Amino acid sequence: MQRVRGVVAKAKGEPVSIETILIPDPGPGEAVVQVQACGVCHTDLHYREGGINDEFPFLLGHEAAGVVEAVGEGVSGLEPGDFVVLNWRAVCGQCRACLRGRPWYCFATHNAKQKMTLEDGTVLSPALGIGAFVEKTLVAAGQCTKVDADASPAVAGLLGCGVMAGFGAAMNTGGVSRGDSVAVIGCGGVGNAAVAGARLAGAAKIIAVDIDDRKLDWARSLGATHTINSSRIDPVEAIRELTGGFGADVVVEAVGRPETYTQAFYARDLAGTVVLVGVPTPDMKLELPLLDVFGRGGALKSSWYGDCLPTRDFPMLIDLYRQGRLDLEAFVSETIALDEVEAAFTKMHHGDVLRSVVVF
Ligand SMILES: NC(=O)c1ccc[n+]([C@@H]2O[C@H](COP(=O)([O-])OP(=O)(O)OC[C@H]3O[C@@H](n4cnc5c(N)ncnc54)[C@H](O)[C@@H]3O)[C@@H](O)[C@H]2O)c1
Ligand SMILES: [Zn+2]
Ligand SMILES: [Zn+2]
Repeated sequence: MQRVRGVVAKAKGEPVSIETILIPDPGPGEAVVQVQACGVCHTDLHYREGGINDEFPFLLGHEAAGVVEAVGEGVSGLEPGDFVVLNWRAVCGQCRACLRGRPWYCFATHNAKQKMTLEDGTVLSPALGIGAFVEKTLVAAGQCTKVDADASPAVAGLLGCGVMAGFGAAMNTGGVSRGDSVAVIGCGGVGNAAVAGARLAGAAKIIAVDIDDRKLDWARSLGATHTINSSRIDPVEAIRELTGGFGADVVVEAVGRPETYTQAFYARDLAGTVVLVGVPTPDMKLELPLLDVFGRGGALKSSWYGDCLPTRDFPMLIDLYRQGRLDLEAFVSETIALDEVEAAFTKMHHGDVLRSVVVF
């Protein structure tokens, strides 16, 4: 058992606070990781706003890299001292998805069995089964993916959520390929990673859509060939105009709202693909003419974590970064201290950053 400091969301909509957290020693199949960096993702804010579920208090943070401090019984292939990126979908290898050779859909992903608590014994719900705005965290060993220690923790940690989700939404879920036209609606950390993924996949046209010009500037630097500020122009019309009147082959929705989903739906070409990677809240409803769903054909997909396989994709993305083909540093707008997470939420809300990253 260890006592460390971490960022907790105690109640819906209330500012987060720094609390003392009790971390159990790793049990069978578990690991304790000394967190070195953890990015602030919009999903953390969703948790704080009660948009994911009501299981307060939450230990926030889930986009992290660090060093393994200790492993429990029966853990193989992971040792103290290993540099790892934490993942929130540690595949089980045994569920019906895994057995069919589609482990990225795993329906029974692993988390630590023991609980982290507050000093009074209150059990914490770790965000996405991780909880990494904390000096040390307890995870399932499978949630630790070893990567080359050449990359700085702030950069490597991004792969643990937003960058992987956006990149994979384009490349894995959307299957973007050479010559495709791609539109990305919402260009925060996730959407801009989809832009970068589309560029690496060889997309011919990459249209970035946001309501904030600063996000569009970042999108251009990461590979967008065209940008649309949808607070000023109708993005569906504009995307059609840029694609010969037809719409894009793949549209990635990285906001998670019915109105932006509807834009994505109509901004895609016949038989094109919509990928929803933005996370909606439980109150949201989508209304579309069923005839349009049928008549426009193609595929309407969701992207859980970019349909990634951490063991396959994290080291690959680090390699691309080291080759200078994926500018991960561009996503780190600022590094901050643990007690600045609440301020980082405000900056995210105002659109001032792609990612604020807590470094320890
Ligand atoms: N599917 C997954 O596995 C996964 C993983 C990580 C994050 N997410 C989700 O992805 C979404 C984006 O996350 P993020 O960290 O990039 O958030 P962010 O806040 O950094 O980015 C959201 C972007 O959307 C833009 N936006 C807001 N309303 C818009 C509108 N009406 N039209 C166009 N653009 C609009 C904002 O200006 C901002 O640039 C969130 O919903 C987050 O929960 C999903
Ligand atoms: Zn499984
Ligand atoms: Zn996230």
